[in-house]
Amino acid sequence: MHISAHFILGFLLGASAAATSPTARVVHEKRAAHPSLTHARRLDAHITVPLKIGLKQQNTAALADHLTAVADPHSPAYGQHWSPEQVAEVFAPADETRDAVSAWLTSSGFSAERLRLSANRAWIHVDGATVGEVEPLLGAEYHVYTHESGEEHAACDSYSLPAHVADHIEIITPTVQPNIKLGSGSSLAARGAPNPRQKRAAPALPAGCDQAFTPACIRSLYNITYVPKAIDRNSFGIVSQAPATYLQSDLDTFFANFSPSLVGKSPLFVSIDGGIVDAVEGTDVGEDGWILQYTMALVQPQPVTMLQVGDLATGNFISFNEWLDAVDGAYCTSDGGDDLAFDPQFPDPTVPGGGQAHSCGSTPPPRVISNSRADFEYRLSPFYAARQCAEFAKLGLMGVTVLFSAGNFGAAGTTRGYCLDDNGSVNLNATHFNPGWPGACPWITSVGGTQVKANASTSDGVVEEVWNQDLTHGGFSNRFPMPHYQKAAQTNPGQLKHFNAKGRAYPDISANANNFVAVEQGVFSANSGTSGAAPTVASIITLVNDARLAAGKTPVGFINPAIYSPHFVGAFNDIVSGTSQGCKGWQGDRGGGFQAVSGWDAATGVGTPNLGLLIEKWLALP
Ligand SMILES: *[C@@H]1O[C@H](CO)[C@@H](O)[C@H](O)[C@H]1NC(C)=O
Ligand SMILES: *[C@@H]1O[C@H](CO)[C@@H](O)[C@H](O)[C@H]1NC(C)=O
Ligand SMILES: *[C@@H]1O[C@H](CO)[C@@H](O)[C@H](O)[C@H]1NC(C)=O
Ligand SMILES: *[C@@H]1O[C@H](CO)[C@@H](O)[C@H](O)[C@H]1NC(C)=O
Repeated sequence: MHISAHFILGFLLGASAAATSPTARVVHEKRAAHPSLTHARRLDAHITVPLKIGLKQQNTAALADHLTAVADPHSPAYGQHWSPEQVAEVFAPADETRDAVSAWLTSSGFSAERLRLSANRAWIHVDGATVGEVEPLLGAEYHVYTHESGEEHAACDSYSLPAHVADHIEIITPTVQPNIKLGSGSSLAARGAPNPRQKRAAPALPAGCDQAFTPACIRSLYNITYVPKAIDRNSFGIVSQAPATYLQSDLDTFFANFSPSLVGKSPLFVSIDGGIVDAVEGTDVGEDGWILQYTMALVQPQPVTMLQVGDLATGNFISFNEWLDAVDGAYCTSDGGDDLAFDPQFPDPTVPGGGQAHSCGSTPPPRVISNSRADFEYRLSPFYAARQCAEFAKLGLMGVTVLFSAGNFGAAGTTRGYCLDDNGSVNLNATHFNPGWPGACPWITSVGGTQVKANASTSDGVVEEVWNQDLTHGGFSNRFPMPHYQKAAQTNPGQLKHFNAKGRAYPDISANANNFVAVEQGVFSANSGTSGAAPTVASIITLVNDARLAAGKTPVGFINPAIYSPHFVGAFNDIVSGTSQGCKGWQGDRGGGFQAVSGWDAATGVGTPNLGLLIEKWLALP
């Protein structure tokens, strides 16, 4: 959907823009403690920030029901996805909300000419707001924090709103999330086709998949013989968040060994917020190179689209909002005129080639989107998490499958094993599991990790177990209740004091996360992590979509209600051995996590996919 320029809000202000009386203020959002950030100093008052007010949307309480109606295989409306226009219309904030917030801003000294309403009407953008203006407006102080990597990030610790406008506002940015990197210079800106009718048996498991995992191992384990035939109607996107990118020479070396027809082929490239392929030989390009090697090999001849967000100047804490901006327009606040300090800043004048305009609703969402980054639920304010989770649900309503890796390092989710205290803060000695993000959001599909058992062969029955090298992240949200589709799932009893058994549980599904053979900087290496599992499942869902599109059906969209339903029983390899790691301060590195059991579990979800059987199940649905 193309998002047109912004309305000037001043023209829209009605008679309700009357002066407001002073009222009590309420704290709206607070910053969570972050062990890798230390306080440096106050942020200078003259700095300009791109102040954006996220207006309260309508009908979000019904979002779950709407999504279930198109995604539950038992629903009469299964597969009848919404258009982007329908989504924008149903959830747009009320005029009353817009008027109340703009009246507050004008009475606080921001003239109507400085206020702009985003095309989807969900945000008010305030032009040229300085820290000195924003601090009294929000009852906040902005500080600079130093990340352990040396990067500087800015945030306020909390902010408050007059009670009469608080109900009209979901979130305000930039505020409590420190996903804003400060650059150098005077401005803070620089953040920087064969015939598929013939059914074939799953190929035999090649020897050594436990040690050296290859595309042939994936095809064997997950019964992949299908060859795409609806390429023109299908699409598949990998989100690559800077600084990760890829080297064509690495792709070619990999393809020469594992997928010769792809030698010389590149992903389709979509630049979001100035994203460029800025890899140079001899520098670390991160994990997206090998993710492309595998996804391109698995879905060929279907092209893979790389949604490249940002460039090498982007640092830690990049948020998921930048690519959400580009694919659904829901976070758009600018018509390309960003010239400000935060979020990160686009275009980025400090990086050659990084000068593209801020992408906003300009990229049609691919039918499947895989993202291998993960964060933590506790670090996001409840309002921020709720709004972002609702955006994922809207993509599902439009028929897009959104997959994220569950994350690594067990139920704590961090190398250092930080878990949560009773008061919700992180602590090395704490004993409550630390749920990940966006795994904790019920409206995405979270992918956990497995590995091939030592010396396994296909005659061994289930050859996978819980990934045990770093251990897959899994658990239960402390904020989002268990969604309907998950109610019948099993919740490993016995450790209930360590997690909220009534919460949304993840992962939903899993795939191998161990010893992917890949080419990096010209040499073969073994890579592990749920970062490899999410794009594997995404490739398989892309092939399912191809089969449905070829049969004249709609893509599968949000898959969770389907994969948990009785209709899909038997279409997964049920993983029943292995345990994920718990909290360091509690039972040491390895003890006390979630165990893989028969049926769903919080280590491997419903299990690993069997493509041949999944296609049969999904073709049986309308
Ligand atoms: C949370 O509890 C721990 C002790 O369990 C304490 O050290 C810490 O200061 C508390 N944090 C807050 C924000 O209350
Ligand atoms: C954790 O416990 C140990 C010993 O019980 C103590 O020395 C240490 O200070 C505690 N750490 C934190 C962060 O509370
Ligand atoms: C796997 O095979 C190797 C080499 O034959 C052997 O040394 C090892 O003990 C085997 N591992 C298991 C778990 O069977
Ligand atoms: C693989 O999928 C095919 C359908 O394409 C099915 O007939 C076969 O039984 C499946 N193999 C296994 C081992 O599940």
